[in-house]
Amino acid sequence: MTEQQPGTNAAVAVLGGGVMGEALLSALLTGGWPAHQVEVTDQSPDRLAALAERYGVRTGDSNAQAAQRADVVLLAVKPNVVPAVLAQIAPQLRGGTLVVSVAAGVPLATYEQHLPTGTPVVRVMPNTPAVVGKGASAIAPGAHAGEGHLVLTERILAATGLVVRVAEKDLDAVTAISGSGPAYAFYLIDAMAEAGVLLGLTRDLATRLAVATVEGAGALAAQGEHPVVLRERVSSPGGTTVAGVAALDAHGVRAGVVAAARAAYERSKELGRS
Ligand SMILES: NC(=O)c1ccc[n+]([C@@H]2O[C@H](COP(=O)([O-])OP(=O)(O)OC[C@H]3O[C@@H](n4cnc5c(N)ncnc54)[C@H](OP(=O)(O)O)[C@@H]3O)[C@@H](O)[C@H]2O)c1
Repeated sequence: MTEQQPGTNAAVAVLGGGVMGEALLSALLTGGWPAHQVEVTDQSPDRLAALAERYGVRTGDSNAQAAQRADVVLLAVKPNVVPAVLAQIAPQLRGGTLVVSVAAGVPLATYEQHLPTGTPVVRVMPNTPAVVGKGASAIAPGAHAGEGHLVLTERILAATGLVVRVAEKDLDAVTAISGSGPAYAFYLIDAMAEAGVLLGLTRDLATRLAVATVEGAGALAAQGEHPVVLRERVSSPGGTTVAGVAALDAHGVRAGVVAAARAAYERSKELGRS
């Protein structure tokens, strides 16, 4: 089929103005998308009023009408709501409208079954640091999504942070690492802060130090040096850091992280089947 591609400044409808919907909306505008080309829907009038005031975008409570006007439909409702929203928008889509969804665990096949034959669909697994432009998202194309649709999705997500392409089969692993990963990092930050309190620091000071340390380590690692090299560089023989890392090993922290990722992976697969 001909791959019709919505271009620059395409009309975008964000369906669902919750946490992720707002992050996507904010990223679109930060990325230079004109506000008049963006519409958001939600069921809560208060929520819509707040988004309209904050971002100057059009708002509405009709998914069908918003989808009809859109070149790109961004689905940001909870996974259990997706089938109902697809039923609302399917009769309204114009040929070539790109459907992008961030709903966790909903397979591409579900969209393709509910939407008109040939509809290009791209699945996204984002994470919450997208809210501050430091997210990590993976995108996977459906059967009718081509290079142009992926490029457009990358442009839409550009201001949310890193965007990588994967095959749909890898989305459960992505969910286990970057999707659920922020919670692992928050867990580590909390544990470091708690340890600081145990060693006599105030909670506020310990928390600020832990947050800045994890943020700084992430920024340093993002420059491309291998994490092992970075770790060895701060581990002088017989020093404090190597003693600390040895204690992490002795307590099985590495194995714990692997087990956490595996549990999230299995749960993601399970939810995808339900
Ligand atoms: N937050 C994350 O970290 C994260 C990460 C990866 C993927 N995701 C995915 O992002 C999606 C949204 O998650 P979220 O955390 O942003 O949830 P959320 O804050 O609950 O946002 C969903 C929004 O959609 C609204 N809504 C419900 N039914 C609707 C309908 N029929 N039409 C239009 N809007 C409707 C909800 O309103 P009510 O509150 O009134 O129901 C809510 O404002 C989910 O599918 C999730 O899997 C989220």
